[in-house]
Formats: sequence, structure tokens, C-alpha cells
Amino acid sequence: MVREILIWPDPVLKKKASPVAKVDDSIRGLIDDLFETMYAADGVGLAAPQVGVLKNVIVLDTSPRQPEARPVAMVNPVILSLEGAITYSEGCLSIPGEAEDVDRAAIVTVEYLDADGQSQTLRAEGLLAVAVQHETDHLKGTVFVDHISSLKRELIRKRMKRLKAERAEQREAPPA
Ligand code: NI
Repeated sequence: MVREILIWPDPVLKKKASPVAKVDDSIRGLIDDLFETMYAADGVGLAAPQVGVLKNVIVLDTSPRQPEARPVAMVNPVILSLEGAITYSEGCLSIPGEAEDVDRAAIVTVEYLDADGQSQTLRAEGLLAVAVQHETDHLKGTVFVDHISSLKRELIRKRMKRLKAERAEQREAPPA
């Protein structure tokens, strides 16, 4: 099921998500929904808080830009190490139409539970490394615009408020 993606600024996007106690069918259903929602929006990553669920679950699929990459779902991801530096022009499905350079580590090693509850470790580089850092940020209540200048952030905030107002208007008065 495609879920509605919250648009920043939203109080839920500032909250810290909670660890998942058990990877059960409800978590697997959430993972399915996150993938479906991410693909419907042409994204390469999505975190559960973006659909209003404050649980430590993220999905990633950078294969559109990294042909060797495969879809991966991570429950309770923990970053074990960060190496090097990369500046990447990031976007976010919760901040549509915006992109800004963000400084990140170039290589990330992350430990997580897969959809079967098995512990996995992944060493990622390039876009996947950026996406892991971006999505795990969401679990801490942080979005990429928290990493840019306050001037740029406030301009984006204005545009997102306008976008939300337009969407609310469309919902109230659907086109005849
Ligand atoms: Ni995002």
C-alpha cells in the first residue's frame, strides 16, 4: 500500500523513532509499504517516520544510479563506522523539488536486522553510503536541510509551506 509521505516541516519528522523489538509480519508489512511508497515517488530511500511511523525502519534502493546496488530494508540500523568524505547533492521525498549539497562520510559500515530478523552488516560507498546516512538521520529526527545554512533552510521552509497550502487547497476543492 502506498502511504502518504509527510512534508517537512512536520512535528513528526523532528521526533526520534524507537527500536523495533521483534521483526514480525507487521514490520514486514511496513517494509513492503515503504518500498511501494518509495518507488511510487521515484525515491532511492525512505524512512518509516516519513510515513508517520516512529519506528527504526528504512528502505533503500540506489540501483537507478548504482547498477550493482540491490533493494535493502534495514530494521534498527546502527552505523558502526564512517570513513572519508563526500559532498553529494541530496534530495528528500519529504522536501520535494529541493536539492542541496551535504557533506557526508564517503564509506559507511552499518549493522541492521533484515526482514527475517537476521543480523546483517553492509559496507556501502557512494550514493548508498549517503542514503544510509540520510535515512538513519530521519530516525533521529534530522532532515538534510538541518545540515545546510539557515538562510537556505528558511527559503526551503517557505517554499514547503506554500506547497502544503496548495495541496490543502486542492484537497478542499478538487478540480471539477
Ligand atoms: Ni529524506
